[in-house]
Amino acid sequence: MIGIFDSGLGGLTAVKEIRRLLPYEDLVYFGDTGRVPYGTRSKETIIKYAAQDVRFLAEFSPKAVLVACGTVSSTAMEEIRDLFDFPLIGVVEGAAEAAAKQTVNGKIGVIGTSATIKSGAYTKKLKEISSQFVITERACPLFVPLVENGFVGVDDSITRLACEHYLADLRAAGCDTLILGCTHYPLIAKTIAKTLPDVKLISSGAESARKLQEKLSTLGKLADNSNSSCSSNCYGKISYYVSDDIESFSQSASLYLGADMDGKVHRVDIEKY
Ligand code: DGL
Repeated sequence: MIGIFDSGLGGLTAVKEIRRLLPYEDLVYFGDTGRVPYGTRSKETIIKYAAQDVRFLAEFSPKAVLVACGTVSSTAMEEIRDLFDFPLIGVVEGAAEAAAKQTVNGKIGVIGTSATIKSGAYTKKLKEISSQFVITERACPLFVPLVENGFVGVDDSITRLACEHYLADLRAAGCDTLILGCTHYPLIAKTIAKTLPDVKLISSGAESARKLQEKLSTLGKLADNSNSSCSSNCYGKISYYVSDDIESFSQSASLYLGADMDGKVHRVDIEKY
């Protein structure tokens, strides 16, 4: 089983890609909807929340946990990694590598939560790949609340306005590639693309699924359907846990994933962990 967590809906952008790449894996998703957003909080609080999230997922004996949250991946990985005996995979590395491959003019934009941008983690990783890259970063603190509150339609004027406000610097900088450094942002990718036409968008959630696949493959731990008793409906099971209202998460998740969430979403008291 693979554990995945985020502060809310954002990690579903990783789940979607994992289902496509690794359909035989069992997944347990935790969305900390009672404490979202993480990105405006202090490093200490982010570390505390992340450790609780992973402790909860550890109860399912995961072979790996995907930290499908840019904020935790960029600010708390070092602190939480050593607490657990299974691998933790973050979103920064995969997105930086994908952006480095995609850019033609070497001008790369990074958007994320305030904590992510403050950490400089994406820039550090990109500069490790090439010191020639010109990187423009921008925190977009309104994007997560917009997504969590359902303003994800391409014609939502409030989201369009927020995009205009936050993305003008990136347009002026001439970036040809933009890392959506927060896993919530691909849910408004269409509006971002309308604001920055011709810019290649990199989903940190989707790219992290590829890193997870690489890691499990290296460890020889990928699930497959080679079991002879396994018929075509042998796909992995998935269950979801949230720390607040089940109903609103189920609705948004079912819209985004195009899946029936009935009976699949449970509530957990994350403060116990
Ligand atoms: N999806 C989380 C991230 O990637 C959102 C953080 C937040 O809750 O502010 O950073």
